[in-house]
Amino acid sequence: MNADIVIVGAGLYGLTIAQQVVEHTKSRVLILDIRDHIGGNAYSYTDEETGAEIHKYGAHLFHTSNQKVWDYVNRFTSFTDYVHRVYATHDGEVYPLPINLGTINQFFHAHYTPAQAQSLIQEQAGELSGTHAHNLNDQGISLIGRPLYEAFIKNYTSKQWQTDPEDLPASIIRRLPVRFNYNNRYFNDTWEGLPTDGYTRWFERMIDNDRIEVKLGVDFFDLSQELNKSNLLGNVPIIYTGPVDRWFDYSLGDLSWRTVDFKERRYDEDDHFGCPVMNFSDADVPYTRAIEFKNFNPERYDKQNHERTVVWEEYSRFAHRGDEPYYPVNTKDDHRMYAQYRNLAEHEPQVVFGGRLGTYAYYDMHQVINSALNEYEHTISALLK
Ligand code: FDA
Repeated sequence: MNADIVIVGAGLYGLTIAQQVVEHTKSRVLILDIRDHIGGNAYSYTDEETGAEIHKYGAHLFHTSNQKVWDYVNRFTSFTDYVHRVYATHDGEVYPLPINLGTINQFFHAHYTPAQAQSLIQEQAGELSGTHAHNLNDQGISLIGRPLYEAFIKNYTSKQWQTDPEDLPASIIRRLPVRFNYNNRYFNDTWEGLPTDGYTRWFERMIDNDRIEVKLGVDFFDLSQELNKSNLLGNVPIIYTGPVDRWFDYSLGDLSWRTVDFKERRYDEDDHFGCPVMNFSDADVPYTRAIEFKNFNPERYDKQNHERTVVWEEYSRFAHRGDEPYYPVNTKDDHRMYAQYRNLAEHEPQVVFGGRLGTYAYYDMHQVINSALNEYEHTISALLK
């Protein structure tokens, strides 16, 4: 091996660090990933039959209000003018989300003005006033009132957590945004869009440099192959973006995560839902939402098959070891355990723990890029001097 720095994980955190290293130094970088592709959870591929760009680990929409990150990503890709909008099926009708004046008027068969809708929701949310919200159910009712909570939040949340909301802590939802106008743009950020040539082309351009080598299908903890933790630790700076508990052999316990199982369906039609993301708010549909990938890229109309479409249904559940860890559960025990792992991590020689798995955090893509740019500037550049 003739690298000056090793990066474990070819996700957005690892790729950003690799790109920064070759841009600012003469060092050589080796990136290892256990998977057979780069891009981590943001990886996508083209479905041959339909021409849809499938986001293998769940729908990924890029959005940010961070000028530095927006300028940075635009060096490697342009973005389409896609604007994210989500719809929900409830009781045989389709409603716009997040809950807005359109949702409210459709739900109550009314034509409320913004002020009228606001006072209705306030009144309904007052049902439990003067009491303490002991669980997520009470919390939901006191935020938006029982009718809307039960229609759009209760069963969806119960499917997400596989737990009755009466048995979930109130702290899971601090706020439930309700808009008293017809704006149903999902994100409030300054910029949003999808990479024009797909996620994977974007990521390939980030590391298109002779001094960056990528080795795929390599498990850093697999001692039967040469590029493993015990051979590399102490010899070269390591940027580790895998699970922090795995690094320490789970010695303090397993941090808890939720995961998502995807079930693929194909239909003999051009367009099944008429939108990219359809949530299912009721208990009788076992999945939380369905993604129709073709609809993320209407600008690729000429390259798509209009006789067939592909849809992925999402089933949420708690993760076990070996599952893809997607969303940190973040119980009090998790916080305590992570603080202890963090303590151990600070004593590892020449190792930086980064990214969502290395720091046990949910990050959107723009946040993970921002975090990598900052970490490069403040810590990693010094390791290479
Ligand atoms: P990431 O998980 O991408 O990369 C870590 C890499 O380390 C992986 O490739 C893994 O294989 C590798 N690795 C782990 N252990 C290893 C080992 N032992 N040896 C070698 N390699 C190892 N964000 C957003 O902005 N908009 C969105 O719409 C979404 N949507 C979304 C949906 C879902 C279902 C999830 C779970 C997440 C999102 N995100 C998102 C968040 C986005 O996925 C996230 O910000 C980035 O993927 C984080 O990049 P990282 O590099 O931190 O981790």
